[in-house]
Amino acid sequence: MKHQNKYFCRTMEELSIVNEHLVTARDFFEKYTAGFLNHPDREIADLMALRREHSLKVSKLSGQIATNLMLEEEDILLAEFIGLLHDLGRFDQFQKYQTFDDDKSANHAELTVALLSEQPFFTALGEEKQALISRAILNHNKDGISLKDDKLVVAYSQILRDADKLDIWDYCVNNLKRDGSFKHSAISLNLPASGLVNDNVIRSIKNHKQAKRKDMQSVADFKLMLMSMVFDLNFRVSFHLLSEKQLIKRLYESMSKNDLVIDAYRELRLYIENKFVV
Ligand SMILES: [Fe+2]
Repeated sequence: MKHQNKYFCRTMEELSIVNEHLVTARDFFEKYTAGFLNHPDREIADLMALRREHSLKVSKLSGQIATNLMLEEEDILLAEFIGLLHDLGRFDQFQKYQTFDDDKSANHAELTVALLSEQPFFTALGEEKQALISRAILNHNKDGISLKDDKLVVAYSQILRDADKLDIWDYCVNNLKRDGSFKHSAISLNLPASGLVNDNVIRSIKNHKQAKRKDMQSVADFKLMLMSMVFDLNFRVSFHLLSEKQLIKRLYESMSKNDLVIDAYRELRLYIENKFVV
């Protein structure tokens, strides 16, 4: 993807400024998250450590995607920067509300932007860059984004959304137990472990749409919803990263099979395969 980036000049000086911003952001990220890792409740401390790890992985994946899209070096650094900071509001969210459920607390992307806008390293970026980063972060927590938006906002939002999904899949798949349940029931939103699937979830997959949260009534629905996130994946490199680790296949293999599940998987597999045929 080639685009006009009016925010950065292509000079070594500009590159070193962006690099400096990333170093400062990392420093802030380390210090800010460290405060949550020593929580006296071991389980909460572990949850916070997982959130921290997620941000680091999304940052890395964003950089990988941006590199593959042949973006300029400073744009790759910006993608990493956004990935690192995108979920900072999660920490405060849990501290205040003891949940990561936005519906029961607050929009964690808005919390992130509010937190960032109070930080000197962020305000030093200038208004245009602040707006770009904030909008990409807000966009990662929406059902979908408008492609009519500013081209740069769309590009960085898509990179972040893809990176975020790839790490969510990876995390869920790596926390599957042999019996098909997840190591922590909170991963599958404490839904019952029935193999029944909701018709609306299947319908979403047939229509190539991400399944809705309100339609999930079982762990099977949750897994199908995870699989249906492929319909919102933007870049070919993201499909490669997904296929490389066989994330959708591994989710499918963990499910009890019936005709609905088998058909849904076939639909998903075809959709993914078609992304490689051009
Ligand atoms: Fe998030």
